Amino acid sequence: MSGRGKHTMAEGLDLGKCFEIINNLTTEAGRLIARNNETRQDFVCKSGDIDLVTQTDQDVEKLIMDGIRQHYPDHKFIGEEESSSGGGVNKLTDAPTWIIDPVDGTMNFVHAFPHSCISVGLKVNKVTEIGIIYNPMLEQRFTARRGQGAYYNGKRIQTSGQKELGKALVTSEFGTSRDEPKMLAVNENFAKIAKQVHGLRVLGSAALNMAMVALGAADANYEMGIHAWDVCAGDLIVREAGGVVIDPAGGEFDIMSRRVLAAATPELAQELAKVLTQFYPQPRDD
Ligand code: IPD
Repeated sequence: MSGRGKHTMAEGLDLGKCFEIINNLTTEAGRLIARNNETRQDFVCKSGDIDLVTQTDQDVEKLIMDGIRQHYPDHKFIGEEESSSGGGVNKLTDAPTWIIDPVDGTMNFVHAFPHSCISVGLKVNKVTEIGIIYNPMLEQRFTARRGQGAYYNGKRIQTSGQKELGKALVTSEFGTSRDEPKMLAVNENFAKIAKQVHGLRVLGSAALNMAMVALGAADANYEMGIHAWDVCAGDLIVREAGGVVIDPAGGEFDIMSRRVLAAATPELAQELAKVLTQFYPQPRDD
């Protein structure tokens, strides 16, 4: 089981069919990413000199959007590359909306470091129903459907159950901006956290960081500066694996706030939130 078999409905939409469609599209797009990851890639800069986009990011986003439109011409999209190309982030409405990061970990991809992924979530009535995170280089596919558990390559997964920060393996990122106040907060947090945890890892993909929490391989992940497309799928996959996703200050997670904290347990999430220096990225995604 990985979400394929169950045909539940949301607002008349067959979510089992949606899952099949997006699962197949990510497989097709994954072939393109894996092939192009064999060599370093040309890129252009978006918001700054470490916020990059490649032709593959654009081709994959188009492949996935075109593929979904063939079945569902009325569905909405919030895609990383479409949002970055001038129009801004589409408003999240109650309509079925696919939130897509075609290549999460673009910096890794540009350098042929095989740790990036496609990350796609489907929201209906603003509730995430489907999440897929797929690293095609390492054949790591994380999937979830709301209420049906989380899966790694078809096998059910659970978070680690870790409650103590002192025994936690924590992931985070430097992010894609060198904005001075943000770098100050990032560095302050790394300095504080490194002294209090088992280990701190920076692997270059926000979505895969969350997948590692779901898998029970990492115990917590936090980042202030992410976007909705980085975390939409990860949020569902972590929660379906028994973990929690909150705001890094300890409150409710807001997908448009550009802030996330995922953890194996509520105890660990709150302990980490208490330690973190807070940063509120602007503009928000809405
Ligand atoms: C970024 C990566 C990076 C994280 C950023 C993300 P992109 O996504 O996940 O590791 O620090 O916050 O926006 O630009 O590679 O799709």
